[in-house]
Amino acid sequence: QIADRKGIRRGRLRLGVVTTAKYIAPELLAAFGQQFPGIQFSMTVSNRDEIIRRIQDSEDDLYVMGQVPTDEVAVEATPFAWNPLTVMVPRGHPLTRLGRPVPLAAIAEAPFLIREPGSGTRHAYLRLFAEKDLRPNITMELSSNEAIKHAIASGLGISILSIHSLALEGTEGPVEVLDAEGFPILRKWYLVYPRDRVLSLTAQKFMEFTIAQEQFITDRLVKLWPGLADHL
Ligand code: PGA
Repeated sequence: QIADRKGIRRGRLRLGVVTTAKYIAPELLAAFGQQFPGIQFSMTVSNRDEIIRRIQDSEDDLYVMGQVPTDEVAVEATPFAWNPLTVMVPRGHPLTRLGRPVPLAAIAEAPFLIREPGSGTRHAYLRLFAEKDLRPNITMELSSNEAIKHAIASGLGISILSIHSLALEGTEGPVEVLDAEGFPILRKWYLVYPRDRVLSLTAQKFMEFTIAQEQFITDRLVKLWPGLADHL
């Protein structure tokens, strides 16, 4: 990697991101690449458990995660943007006709599409149900947010996904965000790297760049789903 006085001219950045972050990371890389042309990017998208394994094996330069690992591996972690999880239903689903916010007990009764074990998203919402002594009515397990979104639209069930998963189609499309008790689950994404690792200059620059985008990302999220403004 070659550094000049202004920063970096050439280099490589290997990112490992959890599946919710795949909706935002390409745009960050594109904007960063405009400021620093000549950098080669790679991005691995996996669930939380798999990303933790990649950190342990030092497979990438930098990681984006929704929950900082504590016991598994020693890391440095910096929060940079909201990643709210919301209940999503097919447009016009009977739950949308209940009083708002829809009680969590009613959410737990509806056929539910769950992410695979190892998913941080799954972990976050199962904890919420458990806190209220509830268990979702699981009818199908899917290992992809996109597959879940299509399954919701196809009427296979309801689920809980990151609001960012609607970034392209918006919240007025076939999948609707439900105003539900306990939601959104307000989570942040973190930029993470192993504590015993010296960050490359390229990775440092990308971290600085990404942290500086926080307000932009928040503004865009609120535009995508105005209901979020009441919770921040
Ligand atoms: P995941 O994403 O559900 O793919 O593990 C993790 C997260 O957002 O924490």
